[in-house]
Amino acid sequence: MTTAPLETYTLREGYGTPLVLLHGFPLDHRMWADAAAALPGEPTVVAVDLPGLGASPLLGEPASIEASADAAAAALATAGITRAVVAGLSMGGYVALALAERHPDLVAGLGLVDTKSTADTEDARANRLRIADEATRSQTVDAVLGMPGVMLGETSKAARKHLTARLEEWIRGQRPDGVAWSQRAMASRPDRTHVLEGFSGPVAVVVGEEDAITPVPEAEHMAAAAPSAQLVQVPGAGHMSAVEEPAAVADALADLLARSSV
Ligand code: MLT
Repeated sequence: MTTAPLETYTLREGYGTPLVLLHGFPLDHRMWADAAAALPGEPTVVAVDLPGLGASPLLGEPASIEASADAAAAALATAGITRAVVAGLSMGGYVALALAERHPDLVAGLGLVDTKSTADTEDARANRLRIADEATRSQTVDAVLGMPGVMLGETSKAARKHLTARLEEWIRGQRPDGVAWSQRAMASRPDRTHVLEGFSGPVAVVVGEEDAITPVPEAEHMAAAAPSAQLVQVPGAGHMSAVEEPAAVADALADLLARSSV
């Protein structure tokens, strides 16, 4: 199946090694807007809509994170980006690790935000396939509309109530087939801890202290695996740290950019 390239968005035009941002599920590039705006200095920042989400086309079968990574690399090449610091939140982190494995020349540094390098448990995989089937059957995204309740940390749910509505709005705009494809792609991904062990560039592992989906021990596992990782824990944030505490995540990514350009 031939498809149009994934959509890329230049969020900032600046200098030096570009920062590429990959979003989480079931969202799109908009989740990075506040963190990109908060980045100090004058970096170039490009965000990608992953397959079937936002304005990007769906890819063919079988659904896989590897296909997402290859499509992202192709879209970035079309945008003139052949070397970048790549940061992904959650599903975006799964794609970032696959990029580091399959397109090592592209990845100058890795930002792994509220994500994990391990594969799913059998229960988690079965749950994803159930949600994919439900989205396909109903042709709605109803099966994932409740996700903001677990994506946001307790602090945000109490003190930043507007974020629940913002996430719901972003989720409502997604395609059911894109939601299903993404879930099946995530279900099929392998453990990529070995990619971190072999990655020689700088790594930032960022995690909201209240992340209930990819909690702090997953971040500690990644930081221990990567030779040059720095672990940043973000107080008052859950799984959507880049949306909940964008300035803190921006600072961590700015530090990663600085470490990647020396
Ligand atoms: C995400 O935020 O991308 C998802 O929570 C990832 C996942 O379901 O593993």
